[in-house]
Amino acid sequence: MLSRTRQIVTMLLISICFLGLQAQETRPNGLLLGTAWYPEQWPEQRWETDLSLMEQAHIHVVRVGEFAWSTMEPAEGQFKFGWLDRAILLAAKHHIAVVLGTPTAAPPAWLTAKYPETLRVDEDGKRAEHGNRQQFSFSDPLYRRFAAQIAERMAEHFGHNRNVLGWQLDNELAAPSFDASSKREFHRWLQQKYGAIGELNRRWTTSYWSQTYDNFDEVPVHSKGENPALLLDWKHFVTDTWISYLQVQIDAIRPKVLPGQFITTNTMHWNEGFDHYLLHKHLDIAAWDDYFPDGHLDPLLNAADHDLVRGYKQRNFWVMETQPAFVNWGAVNSPLPRGVTREMAWQAIGHGADAVLYWQWRSALNGQEQYHGTMLGADGLPVPVYGEIQQVGAEFDRVGGALLESTPKAQVAILQSYDSHWAIDFQRHSQKFDYVTQVTDVYRALKPIAQTVDIVSPDADLSRYKVVFAPALNVMSNSVAKNLIEYCENGGHLVLGPRSGMKDSDDSLQVERQPGPLAAVLGGHVDQFYALEKPVPVDDLTASPGNVHGMTTVWAETLVPVAADTSVILRYGKTVEGWVDGQAAAISRPVGKGLMIYVGATLDSDLMKTFVGQVLDDAGVAPILDGLPQDVELMQRVKPSGDRVWILINHGINSEHIDLKHDLKDLLTGQKGRFLDLLPHGVAVYSLAGAQR
Ligand code: GLA
Ligand code: GLA
Repeated sequence: MLSRTRQIVTMLLISICFLGLQAQETRPNGLLLGTAWYPEQWPEQRWETDLSLMEQAHIHVVRVGEFAWSTMEPAEGQFKFGWLDRAILLAAKHHIAVVLGTPTAAPPAWLTAKYPETLRVDEDGKRAEHGNRQQFSFSDPLYRRFAAQIAERMAEHFGHNRNVLGWQLDNELAAPSFDASSKREFHRWLQQKYGAIGELNRRWTTSYWSQTYDNFDEVPVHSKGENPALLLDWKHFVTDTWISYLQVQIDAIRPKVLPGQFITTNTMHWNEGFDHYLLHKHLDIAAWDDYFPDGHLDPLLNAADHDLVRGYKQRNFWVMETQPAFVNWGAVNSPLPRGVTREMAWQAIGHGADAVLYWQWRSALNGQEQYHGTMLGADGLPVPVYGEIQQVGAEFDRVGGALLESTPKAQVAILQSYDSHWAIDFQRHSQKFDYVTQVTDVYRALKPIAQTVDIVSPDADLSRYKVVFAPALNVMSNSVAKNLIEYCENGGHLVLGPRSGMKDSDDSLQVERQPGPLAAVLGGHVDQFYALEKPVPVDDLTASPGNVHGMTTVWAETLVPVAADTSVILRYGKTVEGWVDGQAAAISRPVGKGLMIYVGATLDSDLMKTFVGQVLDDAGVAPILDGLPQDVELMQRVKPSGDRVWILINHGINSEHIDLKHDLKDLLTGQKGRFLDLLPHGVAVYSLAGAQR
């Protein structure tokens, strides 16, 4: 009886405090700065100090709970959430909201000891053990039941807490499992896809090497060294299995939480473990973990990464983790130079992030990550990078409102295809042919001119783009081919890159020469492909005033124009081997109101710049702000009203003088004028009325 009364009194106190907090809510609208905080690793008396230090750094969101399963459910069926209630309440007192992580990336020892079948099995048949994380099987039904239960209990408990902004499911989905349940599910999945084994045999061409199967259970379960059709289906199965793995948690959480609480997961740099477009259909926002382990920011690569993640849902996203100066898992974990932690935060915002969270607040005194960058030292006091992050926080507070509801809007896009990425990786033909490099090589040429670039799935709606690049679109389904043809007919300029249109959606060779289903419309095709040992000369025939000479570095396809209105725009020079000499390296043809170009060569960076520049020129794509120094990046976010925000960053090591071509006021410094001197790693933020152009 006494404890019941105490419970009610506590509840009342909590609600009164909470109402008070709501009234004095100062969380800014627009941008959020945050950190990963693990209160379960610290004595409760310490929390207030931590949260005060966070508040002083203008931190308004903490991610908590991920990996805390053994604290939330210390024994089977015994749930303890009181500590987390108190942590969330105390955070609210410091105007800090919460993202709750479901702890399923780190099952507790009682679970894996009692139910070892929930442990992941690697491809060589070895079962994982306790002591690390991600040791679970993603398909095991029992593990899913436990995952659903902890998620549901958390949702029941915290789903109406107004200080909870959203949910992060699991953490960095990564390793599939090859245990008995995965094998069973894979066979069931194949049966569902093909219906009859004969259909699988036909589409996989299993007469090759006597692979013909009599029933689905005979199909081996491998992720390498197999029939490419099997390998591609394994990737599709892994994607579907991660989707259903998350769906179990989504189903447990969604009905129990306030409608405003988002559900996401945190993904990794170009991770090709599963199809992120499909997975994100089930999530509310995309979020990713942005790290440069060697401490050397590559601004264009990072820009491409942000645009990739923005493309998962074609909307703004979160940086759920990023490094406070350095990490602990690289070969040499050198720090980002002074100023670059801030530079990265603003670059994320420029590309459409609405929140940036540092991993992590303070290292646990023990555990595998003692050396990782943090905001506090082991003594609980700020380390040097704290000040830099505090500056970011103050800036987010100051100008966040100006970015509210704004997002980058691009006139150009690059298509990124998991099927093509996988198919090329199964059989690279040249180890130098790297799918991500093919995409980012185009990006590196495109971004400085177009300034805003989307990276999207090949089946996305392309109608908003003037130019679309499809580097190495190796696997081309009939529906993607249709999407691309329609795009050109309606006025789009499409540039296909090497190896495009070679495979169908089963990873079988197309029976037409490349680009397969697009060859007729292109009015030409690839005659033969060649992996190159050494670069081969290429001439750009359309460059003005005269031809531009360059090289193709890793790949050369000879192209044959067939239609009368197909023209040759790039041509190979002379080689020792002689196969490509004087033949077309790229062809172009008007299609409907638009244009289709096929480039069969992997252009060196200078030639790529010239070529991309010309394509953009022809399509009428001009920079938002012309004449910027090479190291200066302009990012633009557009509001529904048409008003715009510019973020300029100097990624270089020299100060740069910039002509803004408008009289503008830097929202960070208050400085006004047409000209801006931007220090190395410097950032400026401007607000422009819609009409200003
Ligand atoms: C060997 C095998 C063939 C074929 C070729 C490919 O010679 O006997 O079946 O795999 O290699 O080079
Ligand atoms: C990943 C994980 C984090 C942490 C960091 C360290 O992003 O999600 O839990 O291990 O790496 O860089």
